[in-house]
Amino acid sequence: MKNILVTGGCGFIGSNFIRYLLDETNFEGRIINADKLTYAGNVESLAGIGEAFPGRYHFVKADICDLSAMAGIFETYEIDTICHFAAESHVDRSIMKPDAFIYSNIVGTFRLLELARSCSNKLVLFHHVSTDEVFGSLGETGLFTESTPYNPSSPYSASKAASDHLVRSYFTTYGLPVTISNCSNNYGPYQFPEKLIPLMILNAIEKKPLPVYGEGTNIRDWLYVKDHCSAVWTIMKNGRRGETYNIGGECEKRNIDVVRMVCDLVDEMLPGSKGKPRRDLVAFVKDRPGHDLRYAMDFGKLKRETGWAPAETFETGIEKTIKWYLENGMWVKRVRSGEYMNWMKQQYENRQ
Ligand code: NAD
Ligand code: TYD
Repeated sequence: MKNILVTGGCGFIGSNFIRYLLDETNFEGRIINADKLTYAGNVESLAGIGEAFPGRYHFVKADICDLSAMAGIFETYEIDTICHFAAESHVDRSIMKPDAFIYSNIVGTFRLLELARSCSNKLVLFHHVSTDEVFGSLGETGLFTESTPYNPSSPYSASKAASDHLVRSYFTTYGLPVTISNCSNNYGPYQFPEKLIPLMILNAIEKKPLPVYGEGTNIRDWLYVKDHCSAVWTIMKNGRRGETYNIGGECEKRNIDVVRMVCDLVDEMLPGSKGKPRRDLVAFVKDRPGHDLRYAMDFGKLKRETGWAPAETFETGIEKTIKWYLENGMWVKRVRSGEYMNWMKQQYENRQ
């Protein structure tokens, strides 16, 4: 792996992955970040990286669906490896307007696969980053394994499921060297504040209402983003071609418990915040349609084959995350400009 194309590298996980690869691994090659810069992509999330690693980081604004732009990147940078993060990623947006999800997640993955196939003699690996949401919802017990049947509930998860199937089919049909990872919910620095944890942190800091869907009893399995990055890199290096690996945090929590924990920590960490506890800001609002009850990952296969395990607990990870949002007001201001406020207003109206 000398020249890795990272798609969606200006998003939450992609930007953390690029930092992780350059800062914390023995990877010595180049990273080429191709990102369309949708509302969720921010070049600021990688500020200073080009200067810190001269010649090793390149950004190209490009849509993965644009075959000629992507072919140009492959040729110019002699791409031998792909780590594919680019996607529309927010379930609520997919419910309101699924079009972009079909386009970027399904058509985009298909175009990248075609490109990879056309240069398959040079290709070391196509790693596809996916989600546990492809499996649908668990009941009160059990865990998703790699052989759990796909049963996606939202347009987002259905589009990711389609992309997973396409990637797998390119291994089976054309022998393309692929690996796939399905990961649970991530949290950490640089996450766009429409997702549960950063939204609750920022609203708690600003003493705004904390909208909890339904009764807050839905359960997610949380993983600190750097642990996801290390798992992806482990799979890219040591995973068996054609295989799928589950990644999880062994950290199931009810949404309401996550929100209350954020409230208590912000109360503790924000100096001078006297008065009412932030837990009072919780507002139970209209539920998400098709809201999956529970996700939980069995990542025993990855652990057995590679020894990977998460380094952070939820307690250490959430504290780091809140601290990061408190210290990075400029980044927050920047990503909230544009259409962010319109989206939040629309969400607020829909959930009354
Ligand atoms: P994100 O929304 O923060 O970032 C997505 C990035 O992809 C953005 O920078 C955006 O500009 C870019 N992008 C979107 N469409 C594009 C296109 N057509 N061409 C080029 N770039 C495009 O998402 P994220 O949370 O960082 O998720 C990254 C990947 O990880 C996604 O594939 C997602 O399904 C998967 N995943 C996310 C989570 C999670 O908890 N966030 C968990 C498991 C898997
Ligand atoms: P989210 O961060 O959107 O991730 P996903 O839907 O991909 O799991 O939501 C995490 C959980 O939090 C999910 O059960 C929906 C819930 N949620 C709220 O209760 N309030 C909110 O404002 C948001 C964004 C999510």
